[in-house]
Amino acid sequence: MPRIVMEGIAETTCDEGRRLVLCIEDAGVDILHRCGGNARCTTCRVEVIDGDPGPVTPAEEERLGRVEERTATMRLSCQIQVRDELTVRVGRRLRDNPEMGDAGPRPIEWPADHPLPPDD
Ligand code: FES
Repeated sequence: MPRIVMEGIAETTCDEGRRLVLCIEDAGVDILHRCGGNARCTTCRVEVIDGDPGPVTPAEEERLGRVEERTATMRLSCQIQVRDELTVRVGRRLRDNPEMGDAGPRPIEWPADHPLPPDD
């Protein structure tokens, strides 16, 4: 089971193929996911410090392409299926954005053995 290090916050393990945003949230970290894991809001963004986060999904590329401050290591954690040990920096947390009221709708689970997001 891959280990996930959230830099400066916590560590956890994640079932292989599970969406990273869910592993982070289930570790008790208040990561935002305001669009419910649909690659529309970017509030679930992370910087990948170490490890292979896998391919960028088409929806993720389209959305990150419109982020002015995009970095080479920026990913949307709702679009990552964990296959490797990862060290990430969580970008946006509810505690730092209390005006949002809640983290957002919980993203659905994806089939762990399916390589791309399921069709809506
Ligand atoms: S882009 Fe909105 S939750 Fe990931």
